[in-house]
Amino acid sequence: MSSTLPTWVIANWKMNPTTSTTVSELLQQLATTIQQQNYQSNVVLIPSFIHLNQVAEFIQQNNVNIGLSAQNMCAYRGDNGAFTGEISAQMLKNIGANYVIIGHSERRQYFDENDEILSQKITHALSHDLKVIFCIGETLQQYQNQETLQILKNQLAILVNFQQQLANNNPQNPILLVAYEPVWAIGTGLTPTVEEITNVHQFIRQTLSNMQLDAPILYGGSVNANNAQEIANISGVDGALVGGASLVSESFCQIIDAFDKK
Ligand code: PGA
Repeated sequence: MSSTLPTWVIANWKMNPTTSTTVSELLQQLATTIQQQNYQSNVVLIPSFIHLNQVAEFIQQNNVNIGLSAQNMCAYRGDNGAFTGEISAQMLKNIGANYVIIGHSERRQYFDENDEILSQKITHALSHDLKVIFCIGETLQQYQNQETLQILKNQLAILVNFQQQLANNNPQNPILLVAYEPVWAIGTGLTPTVEEITNVHQFIRQTLSNMQLDAPILYGGSVNANNAQEIANISGVDGALVGGASLVSESFCQIIDAFDKK
């Protein structure tokens, strides 16, 4: 993907913040800076389910240029049905979400989401017009055993089933984004070296291309205001998926700044 394409800065709030008052404050601060700075990057927020509607209404009422994503989605049905506790792709679309994260390592690790479940989710997301932010990444042990590339290749393999739908993935308005997030870098303050990120992103792009696919490739894992510029400068990094540092408006906007200059 060439540097003339838009960059992405995506805030994964995870199970935060705990009150809607804090969400309001964060939104207000973010919107003020985003409107002042007139960023060219695509900014997407991923609140918890309970705050999705609040964020959707805020975006609509303030006419602020922010995309909205869900953190999860029902694997079993795309529309509705007897699945207590679940939220469907159709419900998300209806509330104003345009994206959904699929395959985040916390879902793989704590909720046993395997390739079959992830494939079902991708099917429902695409059929309900939700863009997929597909996360992949190796654990510390896999990294230490130098298995990273093989693991990523295995995780990417399910996308071959979506070749047809994803064939014309338009980089200006993609329906698939891939986020490389080494599990050992998430929330730890550790990041791979510039060289490692460069090589891995190249490998992901090549693996996608072998399946006749293309997508923006984001880096995630301990991106913060201090390392954002260095990461943004890496060729082949089309954006960032940010956890902890996205909960503070100032640091998140500094990260957008860094990618906006790319
Ligand atoms: P982190 O999380 O930025 O807090 O490391 C990233 C993620 O899990 O998406």
